[in-house]
Amino acid sequence: MRQGFCTAIVVVTFLSTAAFAQKDSVSAGLALTPPMGFNTWNKFGCNVSDELVRSMADAMVKSGMKDAGYEYIVIDDCWQVSRDEKGNIVADAKRFPAGIKAVADYVHSLGLKFGIYSDAGLKTCEGRPGGLGHEFQDGLRYAAWGVDYLKYDWCNTTTQEAQASYALIREALDASGRPIVLSICEWGKAKPWLWGRKVGGNLWRTTEDITDKWNDKVKWPDGSCCAFGVLGILDQQVGLESYAGPGHWNDPDMLEVGNGGMSATEYRSHFSLWAILAAPLMAGNDLRDMTSETRDILTNREVIGVDQDAMGREGERVWKAGDLEIWAKQQRDGSRAVVLLNRANTEQQIVLKWEQIGYPSHIPATLRDLWAHRELGKFVGEFATPVAPHGVVMVTVRP
Ligand code: GLA
Repeated sequence: MRQGFCTAIVVVTFLSTAAFAQKDSVSAGLALTPPMGFNTWNKFGCNVSDELVRSMADAMVKSGMKDAGYEYIVIDDCWQVSRDEKGNIVADAKRFPAGIKAVADYVHSLGLKFGIYSDAGLKTCEGRPGGLGHEFQDGLRYAAWGVDYLKYDWCNTTTQEAQASYALIREALDASGRPIVLSICEWGKAKPWLWGRKVGGNLWRTTEDITDKWNDKVKWPDGSCCAFGVLGILDQQVGLESYAGPGHWNDPDMLEVGNGGMSATEYRSHFSLWAILAAPLMAGNDLRDMTSETRDILTNREVIGVDQDAMGREGERVWKAGDLEIWAKQQRDGSRAVVLLNRANTEQQIVLKWEQIGYPSHIPATLRDLWAHRELGKFVGEFATPVAPHGVVMVTVRP
């Protein structure tokens, strides 16, 4: 009995200390809306360099993406080659002759933020040195370089436990004294939505990697399953919506918009769905060389506004019938953002009913089309529209 009482006190003390530590930590208050930026991986893979990163930062400003809200420039895998005799991580001197800090300084000089990638295991997915055993040392180094965002992967992790590994890197980053967004890239294997927030993760991947396809699965080189197209990733988000909120987001992986594997209609659907999911919007295409169509998708402020709505609600699938779906997201002003999705290969009619989005059917509401950028007028109870094959109609509904 007495022992039970003592244990209870210890547990309560531990829990309240942990909560207190997080609230007061240097990283509290980061990513209050889903992070937006650019990451090198989807388009460039291991082909990263000083020049690439600087030119992408320039392009983010020139293309209007910075003005539309994009902020982080993130170097993914392959910037690192070894550790020195003291265990310090060493950047590839051929690709980054001026070092990483010089690149970070340049990114900062444009009013942008700088991110980098490492891995919780012995090696990154591309076989570069991982962070295991060097967490505090790396945290200090990243902070000295001016890193604002760390994507931390899960390859080559031997017997580690995911939650403890990510708690450790958060502790190490905070110990540096620099606020650094922590992007947990564990692919959803250990259900990071259940513990990601508790360990100070700001976003966590919910799935394996995205691939630049509408609805295909692509096996990994070792034969295991799979990178997923947009619809495959989307299906794995159902039911996760309650875990997201300001400072802690489900991450259905980075954007493929503009990479060439999908049609413009499909890319508009991809972007609309990521916005309704309150997903991080990390562009993964070549920002220096965008068609105006790609730029218009990535900088659609009305759609971005849905993603970035300050209430921080993740949208959810409220209706499905075969290939037709309705996804809805509550916004701070009481309105709903709605995506009507047609997965079929032919045009289909979709009817949105007010009860599906939590409004009584007798209420008149004003609809606005976020891709056509026009008011559609007042409707009572329902709204019916044709939707293109693989397309969406995205609207706001304001009673
Ligand atoms: C994993 C991640 C990707 C990317 C690569 C880099 O596959 O899920 O997003 O970071 O590693 O090697």
